[in-house]
Amino acid sequence: MKNIVILISGGGSNMVALVEAAQQQDWPARFGARVAAVISNRPGAGGLERARALGVPTAVVDHTTFAGREAFDAALATEIDRHDPHGQPALLVLAGFMRILTPGFVQRYEGRMVNIHPSLLPAFPGLHTHQRAIDAGCTVHGATVHRVTAELDHGPILAQAAVPVLPGDTADTLAQRVLAQEHRLYPKAVAQLLAQRAGAG
Ligand code: GRF
Repeated sequence: MKNIVILISGGGSNMVALVEAAQQQDWPARFGARVAAVISNRPGAGGLERARALGVPTAVVDHTTFAGREAFDAALATEIDRHDPHGQPALLVLAGFMRILTPGFVQRYEGRMVNIHPSLLPAFPGLHTHQRAIDAGCTVHGATVHRVTAELDHGPILAQAAVPVLPGDTADTLAQRVLAQEHRLYPKAVAQLLAQRAGAG
């Protein structure tokens, strides 16, 4: 059984979409993969309770309790690998995870780590993507699922979903439209990745 570990920092709506897809589409039977754990860097993340309500084990690695990025990332890696009998989960899914990871951490999981970013990369890497799209006069915006590499928000693109920017949109109304697409896009993209791996044996 391949283990998927999901990292969150906040409400975890993308995590919920992924866990529900795994359950409703029976990923264990179809792909030999299951969501083994949800880990948050913030103890108060609302997604922790949502994960527990879905029956998924949770853990917290509180980044404020570590001296620096390297120490946090090392503790996070230890926790991640604890959730896999082989010590190396098959897929690490960042879902609203708001920490910049060190190159050493990325290297450890490279090739099996994905993220969802709320813009049509390569446009608008970084933060405040919805307001930046509005300010730039974009008529189209969206979300991107990509492999995580050492360069922030620049890994190979796996899937994208576009939404219109409507007259009068605020960052909040646009974010809601994008988020609805994220909840459809991310499970589909992860399932495709798992199918490829299952096919590869
Ligand atoms: C979303 O906008 C997502 O694109 C970004 O984090 C935000 C919150 O996601 N990665 P979630 O509700 O915590 O999944």
